[in-house]
Amino acid sequence: MKNNAQAIKDKLKALNDRFAIVATEGQIEFELGHNEVILAEVANQQAKSTISLHGGLIMTFQPKKQEPVLWISPFGYLNETAKSIRGGIPICWPWFGPHATDDSQPRHGFARSVLWEVVETQKTIEGAIQLTLELHNTPETQTQWPHTTRLQLVVSIGKQLEVRLITHNRGQTPFVLTEALHTYFMVSDVTQIAIHGLEGCQYLDKVDNSTQRKTQTGPVTIQGETDRVYLDTTADCVIEDPRLKRRIRIAKENSRSTVVWNPWIEKAKAMKDLGQIGYLNMVCVETANALDNAVTVAPNEVHQLQAVISIEPL
Ligand code: BG6
Repeated sequence: MKNNAQAIKDKLKALNDRFAIVATEGQIEFELGHNEVILAEVANQQAKSTISLHGGLIMTFQPKKQEPVLWISPFGYLNETAKSIRGGIPICWPWFGPHATDDSQPRHGFARSVLWEVVETQKTIEGAIQLTLELHNTPETQTQWPHTTRLQLVVSIGKQLEVRLITHNRGQTPFVLTEALHTYFMVSDVTQIAIHGLEGCQYLDKVDNSTQRKTQTGPVTIQGETDRVYLDTTADCVIEDPRLKRRIRIAKENSRSTVVWNPWIEKAKAMKDLGQIGYLNMVCVETANALDNAVTVAPNEVHQLQAVISIEPL
């Protein structure tokens, strides 16, 4: 146990020696969080953010003089199956939802529950801090995903939050993947918000067993359990939150699906890490490629899923 603690301390020191940026106008440092998870703590003149190397989870993002943008469970422990902390932006990769053929595989893939490696930190000319994490094949992931890939997560923290999930196919054969930036947004009261951008889109309604394609009329509002995969949509989504007097804009690239999820009361109770009323303060609007919008990546090709999250006054 002692050796393990020392090894983590040594790793933390090595990360800070190599990647910390300490300057009055913008910095990134590595610290130890709960359960000995290493966290990247970013603060600059525009915003602050915490990113966990476990799962590459962007836990928080808060622009200066604004309320937090992301919702994160106050029960900030790794959840019952140690998949990830509920909240922030879990990375669903290389599949979204249940595995297509093997029920024993974890829901939403494995990227959110393994350790990522820091490969670069830098300050951009706009004053943002950019952190690049990488996930390599390991003997364990190879059994779940028998392809030679390099996965990078590039997070830029400035006035807006930019997230890029980059899949490189380094093998000899094409592969098909589904994925999502499973973003939990903080809202004042989920029953009072409206999500714009999906009007007229077709979706599969998991609450209705996905039996038929439905068409969205008007903005999405949440008055009960909601679990929908909107297909063939590249549109920005805007969460309008009158009580917080703000709009959250989610602009995306190379994403053809948007998932909207709120578990509502009963499912939230069963989850344990949402608390009594957690479901009221969160909504997931996920930048995704799911179901029919699966992506094929040819050998030597790179696919980049991107979301840019910004705040506008209402
Ligand atoms: C959403 C799915 O993306 O994630 C839901 O559409 C699912 O069906 C939810 O319940 C949460 O998944 P998990 O594995 O993090 O509990």
